[in-house]
Amino acid sequence: MAFATRHFVRAASSDAATAAAKKLLIKHVTIIGGGLMGAGIAQVAAASGHTVVLVDQSDEILKKSTKGIEESLKRVTKKKFADKPEAGAEFIKKTLKNLTTSTDAASVVHSTDLVIEAIVENLEVKNELFKTLDKFAPEHTIFASNTSSLQITKMANATTRQDRFGGLHFFNPVPMMKLVEVIRTPMTSQKTFESLLDFSKAVGKSPVSCKDTPGFIVNRLLVPYMMEAVRLFERGDASKEDIDVAMKLGAGYPMGPFELLDYVGLDTSKYIIDGWHSLEPNNPLFAPSPLLNKLVEEKKLGKKTGEGFYKYK
Ligand code: NAI
Repeated sequence: MAFATRHFVRAASSDAATAAAKKLLIKHVTIIGGGLMGAGIAQVAAASGHTVVLVDQSDEILKKSTKGIEESLKRVTKKKFADKPEAGAEFIKKTLKNLTTSTDAASVVHSTDLVIEAIVENLEVKNELFKTLDKFAPEHTIFASNTSSLQITKMANATTRQDRFGGLHFFNPVPMMKLVEVIRTPMTSQKTFESLLDFSKAVGKSPVSCKDTPGFIVNRLLVPYMMEAVRLFERGDASKEDIDVAMKLGAGYPMGPFELLDYVGLDTSKYIIDGWHSLEPNNPLFAPSPLLNKLVEEKKLGKKTGEGFYKYK
């Protein structure tokens, strides 16, 4: 028995060692899309010592992204190095040294280990991008999408590297939020999956894993919850103010559902729910809301437009 146990432990640890040896150590990352999410991902990847190239459509956009990253780094540094301003300045310098920008994705992926896509939430546009990059990236390169609501499998199928394709779903604002959902399609290899988990940890996040299902974990629970709050309000059962107070004080949530909808953007929420509704039209959790549709039609999209469920000055 003792021998069997020892033998088993040795075999198991040698299996783990083989898997670990096979994992890809990600050093060079290309991030496509320098908006809200891409800039945040570029920041945390560069701050954790990766060589990062951030790609977007114009130098003007990239200048804005870089400025945003610099400002965010200053905020992070103020907290992290409160008593050591010189170490803080060194941290910013080192981070920015790890980061370059480009407007030509095809020309920068030739030596990259990981491509993270964070462009517009449109499957055709994403597929077109991945199809192109598939031709220029080396064999070993892993592709990942930061999509919130689209199927990773459909993007993987636009390439010839389905086994080296997964989802890396970061949360907004990226430098603050600790979670990353690592998404595995039925074709994602164990090596790719483990490499993505390791990368998530290396950038200081706590990864969780989920299959390629609508909304993964967080949005699959959060979006139907917010839609149910809208339906409660639509039926006249309670005011939106009272629903927000109830969820904050009764459930301990930091924001009420209407505050959260306004923060996320009503257009984004509508886009997600409409997409899921078309996939599963009979699922009542994914039913569209006339009130949400009306607000989006009136361009009342939440905080970003000054009005959503609430008004902002
Ligand atoms: P954003 O609109 O702030 O940024 C998108 C950027 O991609 C823009 O700068 C745009 O110029 C660029 N872009 C568009 N097409 C491009 C192309 N073909 N090549 C290079 N750059 C291109 O969008 P955001 O909010 O950063 O979202 C990006 C992705 O992340 C989306 O898939 C979204 O669903 C997902 N996501 C968004 C979250 C959020 O809270 N905003 C949270 C988690 C995921």
